[in-house]
Amino acid sequence: MTVVDRDGKEHVVDAKPGLKLMEILRELDYGVAAICGGLCSCASCHVYVDPAWVDRLPKKQSDEQDLLTELSDYRPEVSRLSCQVDFTEALEGLKVAIAPDT
Ligand code: FES
Repeated sequence: MTVVDRDGKEHVVDAKPGLKLMEILRELDYGVAAICGGLCSCASCHVYVDPAWVDRLPKKQSDEQDLLTELSDYRPEVSRLSCQVDFTEALEGLKVAIAPDT
């Protein structure tokens, strides 16, 4: 998959299906903090999904949507909490950008 860091630099990252997207991104120096560990309560795993991939991700649940809409950097079309996205084989090649720190 491709990850765009907060400086706009693209990185190609090996990503194993079976993990949460957040679990892949928090291992990266330029990745997400994931402070709550995936409980959908901190929003520090916020990413922007490349528009080409948005429709291929599972739909948001209401708790993810509620937390996202509270963020100043929320972008309705592309924002996701990466702890709420399972990284499956269908997402190989996915491109996301790390959102600004909240
Ligand atoms: S890790 Fe806290 S909301 Fe995703």
